[in-house]
Amino acid sequence: MTTSRPNVLESAMPQQTTTTPPQITVPPFAVIPGAQVQQTLQGQEQQIVNLVEATYRLHAAGDSVNPPSYFLRFPDRPTARIIALPASIGGQVRVDGMKWISSFPANVTAGVPRASAVLILNDHDTGYPFACLESSIISASRTAAMAASAADRLTRHRGRPTRIGFFGTGLIARYIHTFLSATGWSFEQTGVHDVSADSAAGFRTYLQQTPTGRITVHDSPEQLIRASDLVVFATVAGRPHVTDPAWFDHNPLVLYVSLRDLAPEIVLASANIVDDVDHCLKADTSPHLAEQLTGNRDFLTGTLHDVMTGRVELPEDRPVVFSPFGLGVLDLAVGKHVYDEVTRAGQLHVVDDFFHETRRYG
Ligand SMILES: NC(=O)c1ccc[n+]([C@@H]2O[C@H](COP(=O)([O-])OP(=O)(O)OC[C@H]3O[C@@H](n4cnc5c(N)ncnc54)[C@H](O)[C@@H]3O)[C@@H](O)[C@H]2O)c1
Repeated sequence: MTTSRPNVLESAMPQQTTTTPPQITVPPFAVIPGAQVQQTLQGQEQQIVNLVEATYRLHAAGDSVNPPSYFLRFPDRPTARIIALPASIGGQVRVDGMKWISSFPANVTAGVPRASAVLILNDHDTGYPFACLESSIISASRTAAMAASAADRLTRHRGRPTRIGFFGTGLIARYIHTFLSATGWSFEQTGVHDVSADSAAGFRTYLQQTPTGRITVHDSPEQLIRASDLVVFATVAGRPHVTDPAWFDHNPLVLYVSLRDLAPEIVLASANIVDDVDHCLKADTSPHLAEQLTGNRDFLTGTLHDVMTGRVELPEDRPVVFSPFGLGVLDLAVGKHVYDEVTRAGQLHVVDDFFHETRRYG
């Protein structure tokens, strides 16, 4: 009688399984123009603020990858730059991608917006790009949404400001005003200051078409700041031009989206909230200059997420400066939301055969 003993080699080998390989297909590639982006986002300001806050929560929980932005600069065009913001986000959004955003300030004198951008969304499973979206509107919307979120979160225990001042009055200032208005803010006084009289006049005309209280155009930056308990910085300054901490003696909230206007001494005299510490302390932002001056990060109070979760409290006897570097994960979240809405509406423009070599051996 022979007993059948297992072949040593066989028993050492992994058991053959009959599972079929996962079904992987190349997703269709779509292009979403600015008109569709704007149509989708208009009227959704509160929803976008909620989405931005949910994205901060995912980022704080570690469910994101958000490496440093890459700044492409040009020796022959020193004021211009193009920034790459690659990122990946988990949660229900679950998408990878990159924002590629140009800043050419000289465009403005020709009546063309300074910033232009595209956002690429990549499929989680195959890595294939599946959408290219016009992204200057997405970028402006997520920036305004994070400003509106900060205005709300950072004033809950300090009293709501009633006098707002816009320092720099381009497209971002307009979007921030729109988002604040759409999320329940109204102001008794609105101050405006810009080095360009044309910009200040254009912004004033825009404001007059909205339900705004008294509007004052300030020639002096000092007057604008002293007259405002909420100051929005949205200039294109490359280095500090506001240097006197005494202008902030009334302890305003500063929404500091342009990041390079304030001397480090003003940062050091304030409570400082950022969106992400490592991102914000780079690229010669004012908090970065403050770190270089002091050799430490002790002047940072915390992140906006820390405030949202009650981990930090804000003093009432100092200015509060919110410096958001602007995370690529926010662009991804808002971009994916636009993609989903356009898809749901059955209005996605797919580019047939965009990826053509889809069989490995032809
Ligand atoms: N932190 C972020 O996530 C984020 C996102 C988007 C944009 N931004 C920044 O917002 C800023 C504004 O963008 P935009 O698209 O509105 O630009 P824009 O060119 O449309 O407007 C900028 C305005 O600032 C004015 N200005 C320039 N220097 C000034 C100064 N020293 N004092 C007063 N006014 C001055 C200009 O005349 C112009 O009217 C940029 O610095 C941009 O990088 C930040």
